[in-house]
Amino acid sequence: MPSQHQGLRGSLTSYGDAEFALFLRKAFIKGAGYGDDALDRPVIGIVDTESGFNPCHGNVPQLIQAIERGVMLAGGLPVSFPTISIHESFAHPTSMFLRNLMAMDTEEMLKALPVDAVVLIGGCDKTVPAQLMGAASAGKPAIQLVTGSMLTGSHRGRTVGACTDCRAFWGRYRAEEIDADEIAEVNGRLVGSVGTCSVAGTASTMAAVSEALGVALPGSATPPAVTADRMRVAEATGTRAVGLAEEGLTLDRILTPAAFDNAFRILLAMGGSTNALVHLAAVAGRCGYRLDLDAFDALGRETPVLVDLKPSGDHYMEDLHRAGGIPRLMLELRGQLDPTALTVTGRTLGEELDDAPAPFAQDVIRPRDNPIHNGGSIAVLHGNLAPGGAIIKQSAATPALLEHRGRAVVFEDAADLAERIDRDDLDVDASDVLVLRNIGPVGFPGMPEAGYIPIPRKLAKAGVKDIVRISDGRMSGTAAGTIVLHSSPEAAVGGPLALVRTGDTIALSVGRRSLVLEVDDAELARRAAGAAPPRPRPERGYAKLYVDEVTQAEEGCDFRFLQAVDTRASVPSRA
Ligand code: FES
Ligand code: MG
Repeated sequence: MPSQHQGLRGSLTSYGDAEFALFLRKAFIKGAGYGDDALDRPVIGIVDTESGFNPCHGNVPQLIQAIERGVMLAGGLPVSFPTISIHESFAHPTSMFLRNLMAMDTEEMLKALPVDAVVLIGGCDKTVPAQLMGAASAGKPAIQLVTGSMLTGSHRGRTVGACTDCRAFWGRYRAEEIDADEIAEVNGRLVGSVGTCSVAGTASTMAAVSEALGVALPGSATPPAVTADRMRVAEATGTRAVGLAEEGLTLDRILTPAAFDNAFRILLAMGGSTNALVHLAAVAGRCGYRLDLDAFDALGRETPVLVDLKPSGDHYMEDLHRAGGIPRLMLELRGQLDPTALTVTGRTLGEELDDAPAPFAQDVIRPRDNPIHNGGSIAVLHGNLAPGGAIIKQSAATPALLEHRGRAVVFEDAADLAERIDRDDLDVDASDVLVLRNIGPVGFPGMPEAGYIPIPRKLAKAGVKDIVRISDGRMSGTAAGTIVLHSSPEAAVGGPLALVRTGDTIALSVGRRSLVLEVDDAELARRAAGAAPPRPRPERGYAKLYVDEVTQAEEGCDFRFLQAVDTRASVPSRA
């Protein structure tokens, strides 16, 4: 195959004299010590997302070394460059607010720099989606490498990991089951090393989804961040990037409907984060595919949850890795995956699975006839409270609450919730339905994970572990409970959640996939007519761009002007 690499040439338009532009480019990089022999090779960009504020990416310097080794072993020239890096806990107002900015940064740097192919190093929740969105739009060969999961820790003899256990311990502290000394002690145990959260949160889910999409090497999703396996994956990723450059294999040939179908399957089978659905909608939107929520629900009904991973199950990512990782899961689901999907290896998924390591006995990935949960981890709801759809992670909910009628207790926004949720005079009991609005993509730019509404303190102290909750926001993939999310359209753009009043009755039926406010249409129309004027919106900067352009959850919360111009089809395909 003739090599397609451009070396340092890339695109040379800036001086109107291409040869002079190349001459300058070479002069400057020689100033950094490069010789001519280094320069006439495929140039492999490495997206460096190290940041002192991103411990989930704390191993990036070591990964870059390993990638560089892999690139050079294959005869390429590795050159790293930075982009924005986003960590969940260090991104005000929310990490999701910055995802589209990182996607724009990634896209424009990939287009601007003379790279023949690029290795994307992502990990923490929003980074992999941002990189896939940007790379899909940039149109250059790209391969995803994730940083890998953190190690678990140990607290008083018990294995713990972020962040399902962070939430569990905090809940016990709020309920006064553990004291201030113990909560301080466990704070230093929950995160055992650098790397991403050790449960089926968004980071782990997007790692698995990347493998299922075929944009990351087989077996690359699960090695923990600080292991030799992770470094060898990085080396192999660098080597393969040179192949991508020489073959000119771009993401549009990989991110096909077949690839998205496989990714949705893996998301469902691992009991993955609800956020991954938003991110997949965004990546698909970059490629011209629209998310069909009902087709996703249909896929969910026939896809069992097989991975016994917190919060739906009991294990951590390091256990999933030892059990054989995503290739093992794919073998279990093989009949439901599309084997024709091309992967970044240049081979199809079917060819890769033919060569996958032989299965062995283990207890993390269940066989199809003994699932963790039968009916799909995420269900899609419709009704007058969610005309554009809403979702619930039923595999992490309380079964008895999946069919429930109760009295609405409404919180106007995140500030109202914070002020009243712990008051002793809050009028609430365990059969009520908590409603939190104005936390959608426009209402609270970035659509925070505040959909995980805490159990009111007085109920928590009385031993209540779960209560039905509904919002137009998101929830962390590490959280559990009977929690309806992404009610669309959101309250801030006139969605029906804005019309609910405390004392109304809400009926949730996951069996019937319905979410109904039992108030008649005439009364809802009266309420809409008398609604308060819209709240003030940001007037300048990125925040203004965000609220002016962001789409709803089912469209991926991408900016309208970043989506592909033409919609080619919907995904998952209704095969
Ligand atoms: Fe980075 Fe959980 S905080 S993956
Ligand atoms: Mg998260």
